[in-house]
Amino acid sequence: MSDIQVFVEEADGSTTEHSFPTDMGLNLMEALKGSEYPILATCGGMALCGTCHIALLEGTANPPSDEELDMLDTLFNSGENSRLSCQIRLSALSNGARLQILGEGN
Ligand code: FES
Repeated sequence: MSDIQVFVEEADGSTTEHSFPTDMGLNLMEALKGSEYPILATCGGMALCGTCHIALLEGTANPPSDEELDMLDTLFNSGENSRLSCQIRLSALSNGARLQILGEGN
């Protein structure tokens, strides 16, 4: 079993460190929900709802698909670092990645 460290910048300005497994086929949205972040994820990870929106502040991940980019285009607070966390595989996320949760429910 191998884990990566992921740092979440919280709304209050603090940073929380998480350890997520890379060998369970999880995506980042599932890992964040498992850590009690109130991500709605109403589409279940199909890149259709946009509620799992994050900013990937540091680190790299698998590149976004056309479907993900199309959905990000529709979000009012989308920016340069925006990603849909359901489309990021933990196995492709760099260790030490830093992110901010932007989606609805937060
Ligand atoms: S969970 Fe709906 S777009 Fe990611």
